[in-house]
Amino acid sequence: MSDALKLGFAPFAAPAKIGVSGVLVVFCDDGLKFGPATAKALGSAAGLVARAAKAVRFTGKSGSALELVVPEGLKVSRLVVIGAGNTKGLEQKDLLKLGGLVMGKLPVAASEGVVFAELPSGAMKDGQAADLAQGIVLRAYAFDRYKTKRKDDEKPPARRSVTVAVGDVAAARKAYAAREAISGGVLMARDLVNEPANVLYPEEFARRTLVLKKAGVAVEVLDLKAMKKLGMNALLGVGQGSARESRVVVMRWNGGKAGEAPVAFIGKGVCFDTGGISIKPAASMEDMKGDMAGAACVVGLMQALAARKARVNAVGLIGLVENMPDGNAQRPGDIVTSMSGQTIEIINTDAEGRLVLGDVIWYAAKRFKPKFMIDLATLTGAIIVALGQEYAGMFSNNDELSHRLHKAGEATGELVWRMPLNAAYDKMIDSKFADMKNTGGSRWGGAITAAQFIQRHVADKTPWAHLDIAGTAFDSRQTDINRSWGSGWGVRLLDRLVANYYER
Ligand code: BES
Ligand code: MN
Ligand code: ZN
Repeated sequence: MSDALKLGFAPFAAPAKIGVSGVLVVFCDDGLKFGPATAKALGSAAGLVARAAKAVRFTGKSGSALELVVPEGLKVSRLVVIGAGNTKGLEQKDLLKLGGLVMGKLPVAASEGVVFAELPSGAMKDGQAADLAQGIVLRAYAFDRYKTKRKDDEKPPARRSVTVAVGDVAAARKAYAAREAISGGVLMARDLVNEPANVLYPEEFARRTLVLKKAGVAVEVLDLKAMKKLGMNALLGVGQGSARESRVVVMRWNGGKAGEAPVAFIGKGVCFDTGGISIKPAASMEDMKGDMAGAACVVGLMQALAARKARVNAVGLIGLVENMPDGNAQRPGDIVTSMSGQTIEIINTDAEGRLVLGDVIWYAAKRFKPKFMIDLATLTGAIIVALGQEYAGMFSNNDELSHRLHKAGEATGELVWRMPLNAAYDKMIDSKFADMKNTGGSRWGGAITAAQFIQRHVADKTPWAHLDIAGTAFDSRQTDINRSWGSGWGVRLLDRLVANYYER
């Protein structure tokens, strides 16, 4: 993680106290108008802004920025004016984006920034200021723990602080508390995804989930013996070619009514996916250190729910394995019996995620009888072909759950697009020798046949949704709120789903 960012709130008067090294960030609308507190803080410098704006044709349109270095009349080293465009009806995702833009405008060497959370129409509402702050924190994240050498102008200061100036400090802090818990979960997920597989193997991943205990989450780790006893042979088959032992971790947060059925989240945790004996080509194989992004999201989500004391009973289950080729590895043609009792012919050892999820999802439904369950997995290249990196593929046996996920996606900006399931696709995974095979046999509809496989392991018609996050979990897009590779995708989405379901 990056050198810690200290984020705080202060009343609008504070900028006068910023030292000469500080950066002041303010917002204007597309008429170059400032709010009253901002105008007061700028004083005579407002005239400079108008002149500079004219000189570079800055119009204050959304997302644009104007920078003034050592502006006369102000003590700050730099003044950044960010265009908020038409400031009516700004939603959470817009404010997150603005926060990201703010952080992006703080030069690497700057140690102090003050942001005026004010729009021309007046102070941002508490929730808006808190969203802005969350955007700043998400953008500030960098995975740089393995960087030992840096050029002088790339060296960040030992400590960076950003102060968000607001109308009502106590109210903003209160609104920020839950957001802080959620971004904590996102950053935890990103850390896990970015970590290389020589460091983060199944046992180590399981060990790292133990920190959730501090937030009040009960954590249980199933070892090989426990998994064998349960009959998780589909999962165990994937891990058998690795020198690292497989694990399943069960996390429980009971913030809801005592005895009420929980909601369950299940994550694919393939710590590295070589493809096994059906080995992958070398190009981009390094990305497969992130094939545990589903599991990382579930861990981050459980951390977020516990840290903000969500009024929900939730369980998180992750299947942790490493898919390697060796003398003991699973072969194409092998037949395994999953925990559900169904037999599976392994056609391609690179279709391993569904084997892991099949057992864990079966176990989740049988043990916890959840209200609904949602699995997340970097499952198929085919979903990237279909949807790119903008939407995750959603497959579900339940219209209401799909609708709720879709709504939560629109609100948070973590978008999901529903894909079909049906009997014709299901038939494509029938096997000559066993109850089913682990691929559809052709590349056509590859994300769908994978989902059909998982559906065959949904016990007792439990309401279920599967999110194929192969396109969204790794961010090569450099978005406003994430500059690292692992996106932490899904934590904010599922936190919102829970909030809408239980807390409104
Ligand atoms: N982990 C991969 C899918 C993946 C690919 C995720 C690229 C993220 C980026 C998965 O285990 C896999 O290998 N899927 C195969 C399935 C095929 C063999 C049926 C695929 O998508 O090619
Ligand atoms: Mn694979
Ligand atoms: Zn995989």
